[in-house]
Amino acid sequence: MTVTKEQVLAALARVPSPDGTALPNARVLSDVVVSDGKVFFSLTVDAATVKAWEPVRDAAEKAVRSVPGVQSALVALTAERSPGAAARGPQPAHVAAQPQRAAHPADKVQPGIPGVDAVIAVASGKGGVGKSTTAVNLALGLRDLGLKVGMLDADIYGPSLPKLLAIKENPETIGGTRLKPIQRYGLTVMSIGFLIDEETPMIWRGPMVMSAITQMLREVEWGKLDIMVVDMPPGTGDAQLTMAQQVPLKGAVIVSTPQDLALIDARRGVSMFKRVNVPVLGVVENMSYFLCPSCGTRSDIFAHGGARHEAERLGVPFLGEVPLHMTIREKSDAGLPVVATVPDSEHARIYRDIASKVLAQLKGGAGGKTAPKIVIEA
Ligand SMILES: Nc1ncnc2c1ncn2[C@@H]1O[C@H](COP(=O)(O)OP(=O)(O)O)[C@@H](O)[C@H]1O
Ligand SMILES: [Mg+2]
Repeated sequence: MTVTKEQVLAALARVPSPDGTALPNARVLSDVVVSDGKVFFSLTVDAATVKAWEPVRDAAEKAVRSVPGVQSALVALTAERSPGAAARGPQPAHVAAQPQRAAHPADKVQPGIPGVDAVIAVASGKGGVGKSTTAVNLALGLRDLGLKVGMLDADIYGPSLPKLLAIKENPETIGGTRLKPIQRYGLTVMSIGFLIDEETPMIWRGPMVMSAITQMLREVEWGKLDIMVVDMPPGTGDAQLTMAQQVPLKGAVIVSTPQDLALIDARRGVSMFKRVNVPVLGVVENMSYFLCPSCGTRSDIFAHGGARHEAERLGVPFLGEVPLHMTIREKSDAGLPVVATVPDSEHARIYRDIASKVLAQLKGGAGGKTAPKIVIEA
């Protein structure tokens, strides 16, 4: 039985968006791709409304799956800032009111973290591009290269390591003051989610952030690490800039989706790190193309390849393309990252390849004297 796009749209017409408009009329739908019983499309929504859209995404997948002949449905939810907010950036005004606006070269000289050879940031110009998923699998890829790897979840807007690494326990304290990180999949992990309650309103989170970050860097028993991967808050506003200055970074990896707007954000990410003299280790294009789960056919849903082109234009390395794939999402959201749990998959190979490129950049490619001394045993 062949499924048509019209049948899919008819099913979606029964799914209401948060304001009640039928989904096909809500101006959020990408082109609907139907291939061999597999359906894919994306919803691009205002960043501020993402939470409200999550149940809609689930309902849309369910509705499409109930169309006779549909074998699988994958709906990507991607966040877009509202047009009016562009100049201000995605942060609320109070966060933007933080000090340290001007990047002075002296600001960035941060003491290293004892025992930690190199700290790198995984950042994105906007939320929902797969930054955390990329960060986790990159960290695991570095682990597979024989490195001792730590992960710090510094994303105040959406700490996701507890979920992505299935961490339910809270860290213990040592001697009343120092925190003991959690061990998972061979990674040493700490999340701002352990320190800042999800219920804490954003207006409080802003000022709390820097002290929480300092605490996570300096008051956690990280032990000896070759590399620490920091999942940064999305965006390029003052909160991000401050963090980029406060964390002793050896380099940054920018994650982008291929959509044009995401690339504009990625470009801002690159310039933010350049501004604080942190070498950009490269750009990863996530949800780069749609890989059909059963037939393996590849469709370039979005204008794929944009990030590679953009990286070339900006003179920063291109680190690789990660397909949009149900396995990545399901495993990631279930706390079973693909590099750890499906190590023989093509996805895991792609992430490991990205990890090697990141390491190569750290060891020599990115700006000489800032490169850490990392030795991998053969
Ligand atoms: N390559 C991918 N294929 C399919 N789903 C993905 C992929 N990368 C991320 N996702 C999914 O997209 C959503 C957002 O990813 P996440 O890593 O949480 O993004 P961010 O940290 O940028 O907000 C999650 O549900 C995640 O599982
Ligand atoms: Mg995240």
